[in-house]
Amino acid sequence: MHNGPPIMPPNVWQRFRYTLWAPHYDRVTRFHEERRRSIDLLALRPGERLVIIGCGTGADLPFVPPGVEVLATDLTPAMLRQAAAHARPGVELRVMDGMDLDLPDHAFDAAILHMVLEVIPDPVRCLREAARVLRPGGRLAVFDKFLPDGSRPGPLQRAGLALLDLVFTSTNRRMGEILDGSGAPLAVEHDEPAVSSYRHLLLRRV
Ligand SMILES: C[S@@+](CC[C@H](N)C(=O)[O-])C[C@H]1O[C@@H](n2cnc3c(N)ncnc32)[C@H](O)[C@@H]1O
Repeated sequence: MHNGPPIMPPNVWQRFRYTLWAPHYDRVTRFHEERRRSIDLLALRPGERLVIIGCGTGADLPFVPPGVEVLATDLTPAMLRQAAAHARPGVELRVMDGMDLDLPDHAFDAAILHMVLEVIPDPVRCLREAARVLRPGGRLAVFDKFLPDGSRPGPLQRAGLALLDLVFTSTNRRMGEILDGSGAPLAVEHDEPAVSSYRHLLLRRV
């Protein structure tokens, strides 16, 4: 899967557009209640290790319970510089490609993918990587917007979504296809609607 203009490699495009968005991102994207809900679903306990993939400006960090060790990663240094405002002991920020995590297998108890599968160039690889770094029994919280599985938008809707994708974000992906395509050992434990076409999913590494 590829998003962005064909003149640039996908990750270069992602870094470019999120560098432009970084100073404004928190004014445009809030979702406080949704972040709280998603992190509640993870039922994190003190001493557990959490990886946030594509953490952006670190807007999830205030909702992570104390005592949880956090590695917050993102492709875009400018987004991580904003995230530094939420730094505290036990939180590490690192530039990393979510499709190729520089992390060992089974290293984390929990992972977060908030609004990343909708934009990352290859969401199938990203989900596979999230599963790889989770220990067996580890949990993954996904908060994102997806097209309903099996739906086919008409040409006009597709054109509108492609334009939106170019400027800000995408809604042209289906979670069922991403999960099936990844072949990752992840089972959906919980799936609930959130605002608009967003959903909360809790997956467990089997
Ligand atoms: C819509 S923002 C979501 C940010 C954050 N998760 C949140 O909840 O606000 C998408 C983020 O994905 C990051 N991103 C895009 N491609 C990436 C990649 N290949 N690896 C890691 N992060 C990536 C962008 O830099 C951006 O911070």
